[in-house]
Amino acid sequence: MLIKQAGILGKITFIVQPNHAFLPLLAETCVITSDQLSFMLNYGKVAPIILSIEEVNMYMKNWLKGLTLSLALSSVALATPDAHAVDQFTDYLKTQHHFAHQHIDGADVLVLPVAEGGLVLPQKWSDAAKQIITDAVALEGFEGKQGQFLELLALPEFYAKRLWLVGTGTELERAAAERIGATLASKLSDKMNTVVVHGKDLNPNQIAAIAHGMDLRSYRFDRYKSEPAARPEYTVHWHGRDEAAAKAAYALTQPVAHGIFVARDITNLPGGDGYPKAIAEMAAEAVANYDIKATVYSPEQVKELGMGALYGVSQGSQHKAHLLVLEYQGGAANEAPIALVGKGNTFDTGGYNLKTSGSSIVRMQTDKAGGAAVIGAVMALAGQQAKVNVAGVVPLSHNLISGTALLPGDVVVTGDGTRVEVVNTDAEGRLILADGIWFARDQLKARAIADIATLTGSKARALGTDYAAIFSEHDALIGAMQAAGELTEEQVWQLPLGPYDGIIDSWLADVQNVGSPGAQAGARFLQHFAKDTPWIHIDMAANAYSTSAKGIHPAGANGYGVRLLSEWVKNYSDAE
Ligand code: BES
Ligand code: MN
Ligand code: ZN
Repeated sequence: MLIKQAGILGKITFIVQPNHAFLPLLAETCVITSDQLSFMLNYGKVAPIILSIEEVNMYMKNWLKGLTLSLALSSVALATPDAHAVDQFTDYLKTQHHFAHQHIDGADVLVLPVAEGGLVLPQKWSDAAKQIITDAVALEGFEGKQGQFLELLALPEFYAKRLWLVGTGTELERAAAERIGATLASKLSDKMNTVVVHGKDLNPNQIAAIAHGMDLRSYRFDRYKSEPAARPEYTVHWHGRDEAAAKAAYALTQPVAHGIFVARDITNLPGGDGYPKAIAEMAAEAVANYDIKATVYSPEQVKELGMGALYGVSQGSQHKAHLLVLEYQGGAANEAPIALVGKGNTFDTGGYNLKTSGSSIVRMQTDKAGGAAVIGAVMALAGQQAKVNVAGVVPLSHNLISGTALLPGDVVVTGDGTRVEVVNTDAEGRLILADGIWFARDQLKARAIADIATLTGSKARALGTDYAAIFSEHDALIGAMQAAGELTEEQVWQLPLGPYDGIIDSWLADVQNVGSPGAQAGARFLQHFAKDTPWIHIDMAANAYSTSAKGIHPAGANGYGVRLLSEWVKNYSDAE
């Protein structure tokens, strides 16, 4: 863990370096080891923590004397997350956000958020400009409703070239604020350098959410273009009531955006380049600067551990199965982790049950979107230094055909010894997840498991793209997921697990991998491997990808699930 430049609200800067000897505190800076910092963070119930220089001096002295710190950590503020992680995040964007009240002359755009019926123009603006704005607002029927937008150009005696009025409605919730940010980003071009947002009527969280929405929309996957379009490089100057608090709130969104960017990269990567080993390496590299332990199990290790279902799906490909495990320990050392298990099928041809139409096989590189969501969610939680232990488990496969591929009717043996009749090689997601869930339960001793997968066409037909389906028998997990869905607008809809007696019975082996109805059969199959561990299944088929931009999502993969899963983990662990 590295924290730098955590100076917020006029407080101190921590510079944390692993294995660095403790140095006495200097006037502005203290250098402490990561162990010392995590000790301090673990002591307070709320994280992250910033203390004043005096406080730190005092506590460190007491600590050195072996005195208790329990009272010491009662004063808490927000910290900037891991500095290296934030550096990596800025690799994706050329835009910047500044949070300081600083007059900017000649801005390309001045953004004025307007609440419904609440247009008040700053007094210092010229009367001529105010008159034109008032007339234009009346002419266009701009009332400040959410989604309304009005542009005025070249106002007389005005300090910006453009004025953009954006409606914020009556109550501006997080997702709506993010959408406003996305709208702004979609209208800003690479010709614009300076943007000022007059956010006096917004609270710090709303400002942070708008800035986050701008970031999410600004991502591009253009590495396969010979001449990528120029990226915008503007700086946004945020004026608000408490810029330091807005900056702190924004800092907590950065690891979420980074996690989403990595998830989008992984999902977008074509199947020829994004095979299991490549994805495992990409993920390990993306999390390297986070407080995350990444372990990659080779095909041989997958086999040795007995994960025959995971191994089997890729046995016909030159790219064999891998298992990626990401562990973040933000909670007590002895606390069992919450596990997130994501389907990482890096391409789905269907196997010998081949996807025979162009429309069914195209874009099956996005069949790793569940795994990508898990990777991004663990990054978000680690970057926010959430007080919880989480494990991300991503079984990675390549469902191809050859002389060594699985045949319909073959029997594979999973980690827990279950014999599975592979009636349909295109139902491969549940095969790899069976071993992923087994690994989370049996090897990691997870205290709860959520799995997420682009699992069935049946789900896509039933719920389309606006909802993912959830299946569970545990109310606490369901409630936490529904709340996360509403907050993030990654909405979920519960479908039943049963009765559906005998839905996956096999005459030949212990269970078979298909049944009807399709989405329920997939869920029931996975439930078999979760056993008594509290478990919830998310079928996100058709949620991961769109060829046109919408709201906070540019065209391509959207990173669906990163926010849903990370908020779910926080909700569930808080409620426990
Ligand atoms: N990856 C697909 C599911 C899918 C389909 C995701 C369309 C996104 C869009 C999955 O592996 C699959 O092929 N499922 C089959 C299962 C069937 C053979 C039992 C399906 O749902 O058709
Ligand atoms: Mn399939
Ligand atoms: Zn699939």
